[in-house]
Amino acid sequence: MKETILVTGGAGYIGSHACLALAEAGYEAVIIDNFANSDRSSLDALQLITGAAPIFLEGDIRDAAFLDSVFARFRISTVMHFAGLKAVGESVAIPLEYYEVNVGGTLEVLKAMQRAGVRSIIFSSSATVYGDCKVQPVTEASPRSATNPYGQTKLVVEYMLEDLCGSDPEFGVASLRYFNPVGAHKSGVIGENPRGVPANLMPFVAQVATGQRPYLNVFGSDYETVDGTGVRDFIHVVDLVEGHVAALKYLKSHKGFTPINLGVGRGVSVLEMVAAFEAVSGRKVEYRLCDRRPGDVAASYADPANANALLGWRAVRSVEEMCADTWRWQQHHAARNAAAQA
Ligand SMILES: NC(=O)c1ccc[n+]([C@@H]2O[C@H](COP(=O)([O-])OP(=O)(O)OC[C@H]3O[C@@H](n4cnc5c(N)ncnc54)[C@H](O)[C@@H]3O)[C@@H](O)[C@H]2O)c1
Repeated sequence: MKETILVTGGAGYIGSHACLALAEAGYEAVIIDNFANSDRSSLDALQLITGAAPIFLEGDIRDAAFLDSVFARFRISTVMHFAGLKAVGESVAIPLEYYEVNVGGTLEVLKAMQRAGVRSIIFSSSATVYGDCKVQPVTEASPRSATNPYGQTKLVVEYMLEDLCGSDPEFGVASLRYFNPVGAHKSGVIGENPRGVPANLMPFVAQVATGQRPYLNVFGSDYETVDGTGVRDFIHVVDLVEGHVAALKYLKSHKGFTPINLGVGRGVSVLEMVAAFEAVSGRKVEYRLCDRRPGDVAASYADPANANALLGWRAVRSVEEMCADTWRWQQHHAARNAAAQA
């Protein structure tokens, strides 16, 4: 019998890639999602790639009865908790929704796990918990703070998970702090397909390359970085989800709260990323330099040593691969989906 993993938010960008990684590693994924930021097309794509229909239940992580029914129906060993809201700007405009889904929803997931006797969770945390950390690269011991409501929700959930581990020595948490996930599965049939105007860099760059948007706004050109633009640790989404499979194995023998950076360990500027995308796609990406965005930090990149040591994992895919896979996805699928949505 295959080990069963509950994947909340499994119809979304990272969750859908995680389901593929789980299938490849021999696990069964049970996906729950309310399609707040996704639709059935990612589930159809999973079927196309794996040849099997994914196990999917539509529902909301804030719905305790729904969660209980899922835990009653399947023998879940671990939860991979991706479901949540993730747009920093939106979190400033509607903070209470962010607290309700990201904090309240996670609380419901944890309480349902307790009722079902499931004591292992991999949480989608973020480099945003390091706030505006002056010392780069950041290690898991770097001070935590937040510069926006989205970041606060990730911090609150980390505190909640630490307290839970403090109360129950059998509870195991891998809080994976993602840096900047980009790219798509090689097949080009799953990828990041945001609704409306993309909040993340690469979908925006890709939409400019296809002519869906006239130009990219580059926020901040006077940072103390290599070319004045923000520096981030871009990590291929397939590397990222492979880190989750490694964390599953780690949790078999480790209890307590373990924060782990998932990043490449190298900072790349926004304009370097744009240039790499232009080289791979052969398309010009027009951009305009704009003022800094409140809450953005100049540079953020990981020290991934802990992930190497604890999980035996490291990111191996190059910036060129990140761009090529984004471009393949954008050309074949995202453009069509965007046209259908318009
Ligand atoms: N993409 C990034 O850059 C990034 C970086 C750091 C951390 N994260 C975190 O990783 C997780 C996954 O991110 P993603 O990029 O795949 O986002 P996504 O929006 O593509 O996926 C999230 C999924 O959760 C679902 N969802 C939202 N609210 C829900 C609810 N109440 N009940 C059930 N399902 C719900 C959405 O419909 C969506 O399918 C999020 O928690 C995010 O905060 C993402």
